[in-house]
Order: sequence, then structure tokens, then C-alpha cells
Amino acid sequence: MEYQVQAVLEYVFRMNGSRRNAYPSIVGSGPNACILHYLENNRRMEDGDLLLIDAGCEYGYQASDITRTFPVNGRFTAPQRAIYEIVLRAQLAGIAATRPGQRYEAIHDAARRVLTEGLVALGLLPCGVEESLAMHHYREFYMHGTGHWLGMDVHDVGDYRIRGSSRELEPGMVFTVEPGLYFDPARESATFYLREFSEQEMLERRLRLGATAARRLDEEEKAKAEKIVHPIPREFRGIGVRIEDDILITAEGHDVLTVGAPKTIDEVERICAEAPRLPRW
Ligand code: GLY
Ligand code: MN
Repeated sequence: MEYQVQAVLEYVFRMNGSRRNAYPSIVGSGPNACILHYLENNRRMEDGDLLLIDAGCEYGYQASDITRTFPVNGRFTAPQRAIYEIVLRAQLAGIAATRPGQRYEAIHDAARRVLTEGLVALGLLPCGVEESLAMHHYREFYMHGTGHWLGMDVHDVGDYRIRGSSRELEPGMVFTVEPGLYFDPARESATFYLREFSEQEMLERRLRLGATAARRLDEEEKAKAEKIVHPIPREFRGIGVRIEDDILITAEGHDVLTVGAPKTIDEVERICAEAPRLPRW
């Protein structure tokens, strides 16, 4: 059961001196990997499922926040592998963009470009890379940001923009980099609207008009736009993959604080094949 995996994980946290979790552990298998803040953790895992674990302990009053996605039977299937490789490339591109003086939003820009390239290559988006980015079509499968500040709270305080501009990264800042792709198990097709927009303008609109009026205006614009209904091949439905590390900005570049957690497909499959190594009393 998912909660039994959660129990083992939290046992390891406690045995290594962590008094608390940084947030409720997300242990989502199969279709539950597609639910962003899944908390029930009460499903029996099946052969062939993926298991997405987003969990972090608190240590010395500092929160951690790590996500890894594992194949339950120890081996990724070909479609799972294809999606995992895209998310991993996007995560590495996001991390590669982290250095002092870089804009915070460059991380999201780098990650969503790689995700979009991968989705286009697999035929999952109806247009080319530049158009899909300008129309934010990737958001059908990637509906969250690429990270957040991390500190004494898991989503720590701090501005992302200052006077309308993305903040510059400085040594000592800590944040997560966590792209993902999610394919609802019951969704046979996705609707893509042919209209370009800027996420910043949408944000400003929401602040200016309020969430309800902004949503209504968004729906009106969508109703006027041309649209393409594009199929989602069956083999991708039900796949949810997220990979998340914690990054410290240093004077020279960055440190991946969670570098010890297996991440490549080979590393993940290798650790799945190992015998358990639980700390003893
Ligand atoms: N760890 C959950 C989140 O970042 O929202
Ligand atoms: Mn996070």
C-alpha cells in the first residue's frame, strides 16, 4: 500500500534525526501520480504502475522537498521511459540555468522549452515548438511552476518578482527545481486553443480584475479562438512523472543539495533492484 511506503520513508527520516516532515508526504501510484497534492496514500500499487514520491523531512528547522518517480515492478515501460527522459532533460536544463545574476524565471523558461520539445517530438502537441510555447499548450500536461523558495517553510517566503521583473538569483538562495508531466488516465484528447498570450499579462489581469472576472474573460477569449482537439495516445494515459531537487546558489554557480538521490533511469532501476537497507534500532 502507498501508506506502507510512506511509513518506511518517514521511519528513515526519524531514525536519521528528523523530528517532523516538511509537509505531508505525497506517495501516489498509478493514476494518483497525476494528482498534484495527493495525500490519501491509500491505494494498493499494481505491477506496471509508476510511484511518485514527493516527500521531505525537516532537519535543524530547515525544510527539504524531494520528488522521485519509480517503476513499481522495478523497470520502466517504453512509454514511461519516454516521458521520464523528457522530464529529466527538462529538470537538468532548469538546474543548468541556476547561477548568480540569472533571472529566476529563466529556470521555468528552460524547463518548459525542453518539455515542449519532448511533447512535440512524441506527437502529443498539435503545433511546433515555438507556437506551442507562445500559446502555452504544454500547460495541458504541465500545469504548475518549476519551483519555489525553500527554507524554514517548504514554500518559503520571498518575492519572485521585484517591480514587475523577475528577481535575480544571489548566493545563499535556496529553491526547488521540479518539472513534471501528467496524463490523466481518463482523458482521451486535449483541446488546444490557437491564441498566444503572456503569462505575465494573465497574472496582472488576475490582480487587476480578481480571479473570477479574469477567469470569465479567459473563457470568453477561448470561446472566440480557433481550437484543435488532439488525441492523447492510450499508452501515455495514467503516466505522471515529476523530478525535484533542492538547489543552493553559490558564488560560482549552484550546489544540488539533494544530489544523493538516484535520478537517471539506470540509477532508479538499479536502486529498485537492491535489497532494503533500513536503519536498525
Ligand atoms: N512538495 C510539494 C510542493 O512543492 O508543493
Ligand atoms: Mn516542491
